[in-house]
Amino acid sequence: MDFLALLLFLIPIYIANSSPVILGGGIAIDLGEKFFDKKRILGKGKTVRGFLAGVACGTVAGVLIAMIYPLEFFSSTASQMMGAFAVSLGTMAGDSFGSFLKRRFSIASGKPFIVDTVLFLAVALVFVYPFAEASLYTLENILFMFTLTVIMHPTANLVANKMGLKNVPW
Ligand code: CTP
Ligand code: MG
Repeated sequence: MDFLALLLFLIPIYIANSSPVILGGGIAIDLGEKFFDKKRILGKGKTVRGFLAGVACGTVAGVLIAMIYPLEFFSSTASQMMGAFAVSLGTMAGDSFGSFLKRRFSIASGKPFIVDTVLFLAVALVFVYPFAEASLYTLENILFMFTLTVIMHPTANLVANKMGLKNVPW
């Protein structure tokens, strides 16, 4: 297993997932609208600016990595760059879908829920599928990526809370 390659693959995903905490705000993606269950569709924590910032920051990070370090999971620099966009969009789509599920389960915005930890990674891996090589999707790679993310997610949130970037430590 190539740990460095896996870490470099994950960096754009983690950057996409965390940049909205700093850069988000403004108009909510769901425009304040409610779903059939009379609860918000996504909630106030999912903003248009946060979504776009996540996609942009993750893509920039992944494109820079592609320029200096070709990853074995992609057949060319071009596919690695398109992959950077795909994982970033997938991360933010997964993040929004997670909020959609949380609202359906009546979990308030900002409260922790198990899907927060891994759903964005799962959706990023699905979105990057058209651009990535099969070697990305080995069982050991997938186990490593999910295990690291399960450990990193609460750690990063705790650090962001201590730094005053996040109101809650999760
Ligand atoms: N954020 C944003 N836009 C997004 C995603 C996140 O502006 N598309 C910002 C919001 O300020 C949000 C913070 O990043 O409060 C933390 O993101 P996250 O933990 O994903 O959202 P929660 O506030 O916990 O809301 P939810 O319960 O819906 O996940
Ligand atoms: Mg949260």
